[in-house]
Amino acid sequence: MEHLKLKPFPKDFLWGASTSAYQVEGAYNEDGKGLSVMDVTSVPEGTTDFKVTSDHYHHYKEDVALLAEMGFKEYRFSIAWTRIIPDGDGEINPKGIEFYNNLINELVKNNITPVVTLYHFDLPQALQDKYGGWSSRQCIKDYERYVRVCFENFGDRVHYWLTINEQNMMVIYQSGGMNLHEKYQANHHMLLAQARAMIACHEMLPDAKIAPAPNITVVYPASSSPEDYLASMDYDQLRNRMYLDVAVFGKYPEAFMEYLNQRGVDLDIEAGDFETLAAAKPDFIAFNYYGGTTVKYISIEDGEKAMAEAKAKGGAAEFMVGLMTEPGLAQGCANPLQKRTSYGMGIDPTGLRATLRQLWERYHLPLLITENGCGVPDTLEEGDKVHDDYRIDYLRAHIRACQEAITDGVDLMGYSPWSAIDLVSTHQGITKRYGFVYINRDEFDLKDMRRIRKDSFYWYKKVIASNGEDLD
Ligand code: BG6
Repeated sequence: MEHLKLKPFPKDFLWGASTSAYQVEGAYNEDGKGLSVMDVTSVPEGTTDFKVTSDHYHHYKEDVALLAEMGFKEYRFSIAWTRIIPDGDGEINPKGIEFYNNLINELVKNNITPVVTLYHFDLPQALQDKYGGWSSRQCIKDYERYVRVCFENFGDRVHYWLTINEQNMMVIYQSGGMNLHEKYQANHHMLLAQARAMIACHEMLPDAKIAPAPNITVVYPASSSPEDYLASMDYDQLRNRMYLDVAVFGKYPEAFMEYLNQRGVDLDIEAGDFETLAAAKPDFIAFNYYGGTTVKYISIEDGEKAMAEAKAKGGAAEFMVGLMTEPGLAQGCANPLQKRTSYGMGIDPTGLRATLRQLWERYHLPLLITENGCGVPDTLEEGDKVHDDYRIDYLRAHIRACQEAITDGVDLMGYSPWSAIDLVSTHQGITKRYGFVYINRDEFDLKDMRRIRKDSFYWYKKVIASNGEDLD
C-alpha cells in the first residue's frame, strides 16, 4: 500500500546502534577473562581474529562520547559471559563486573539507554569442552546462573535485556556436523534457557523488559506456483516461527513437530519443559534483519539428489547446497529482483516493512530492530574522511521502511543498526565495515586505532536530532 502521508516516529523512539562483545572489545584474555568459542574459532585466511578487534575495552569512554555526540538514545551491546564467569560455571570475575559497570555508568551519564544482549555467539569454551555446550541440559543451568549474576549486578541501571542473539542462525548455520536430532535438541535447550532467563528477569527486576533476538526475515516464494508458496510458508516456519512461536506462545508449531516426527526425531523433552516455556513471556521482540530469503519447493527425491551431487563435489558447493536444501520442503534460491551488496548481502528495505508487518500481526508485541546494516569496505581519504554515501543510502531506505511500517500500525520501539562503530565481522574480517565510526586499523596492521567520524556519522546525527524527519 502506498501511503499518502507518513506518520512521524514516536517521540520516545530509540535511535541507536549495536555491537557485540567478541567483535568490538578485544582484550580477549585480559583482567581474568576466560576464552569463548569465538576466541578460538578459526577465521578465513586473510582476515583477522577476534583478539584485538576495535579495542573498545580500552577505548570505551571515547567510544561512548562519540555515540553521545551522534545523539544516541540507546546502545545495544553484549556482555561476554567469559568476562563475568571465565570458565562458564565457576568463580565470578570482579574485573569483568567492573568493566561493564563502567561502561553502563558511562552510557547512563550520557543519557543513552543500555540494551544488553546476554549472549551473542560467545559461549565459554570451557563449557564446550566440559559437556559439549548446548548439547547438554547442564548448559541451561549455567546460563541461568550467569544471567542472574548480570541481573543482580547491572539490573539497577539496565532495563532492556536480550536473551540470545540469533539462536535460529546458530541452529541453521552453525551446527555443522550435528544431525537433525542433535541440532534441535540443542535448540530445545536454548529455548529453555531463554525461558528461564525471562522468568528470572521478571522475578528479579519487575520493571525491566526482556526479549528474544533472532534473525528474522520475510520468505518469498520463487514463483507464484502454489507449491512454492507452501514452500515459503514451510521455510518461514523453520527459519522464523519455530523460534518466536515458542518464545511468545510457549509451544512449538504443530507442523514443525510433525516435520521432526516424520524424520524420526523424537526430542528429549522432560516433564516440566512445556510448563517452563509457557510460563515465560517476552515483553517485546528484538530482531536482526539483513534482507529477504527466497525459496522454491523441492521434492524429497530431488532434494536428496541435489545434496548427494553437492557432497560428491565437496567444499563450498556441499556447504551451500546443504545449507539451503530441505528435501521435501524448500530450497533457497537466488532472487534476481533482490539487490545485493558487494559481499552478497541483500538490500531489501521493502522486505523490512513486510517483516515488521508479519511480526506485529503474529505476535502483537512491540518490536525493536537490533541489527540491519551495510557491511562493505570503506576508504579513508584525506587522512580523516570516509565518504560512505552507499551506507547512508542503505540506512535511509531502511529507516523510510520503518516509517512506512509505523504508518501501517506497527508498534516499533527503535532502530539499532549494525554497527555503532567498526568492528570485526563474524565471517569476513574488519575490511567488511559496518560502523558510523571508522577504526583506523587493517586486518593485520593495528595502526593507531584512531576513531574517525564517517559521513554517515554526521548524517545519522541529523536523523536522530530530527527524530527521523530529516533523512536527506
Ligand atoms: C549477525 C550477527 O548475524 O550479522 C553479527 O549477529 C554479525 O554478529 C552480523 O556481525 C553481520 O554478519 P557478518 O558476517 O557480516 O559479520
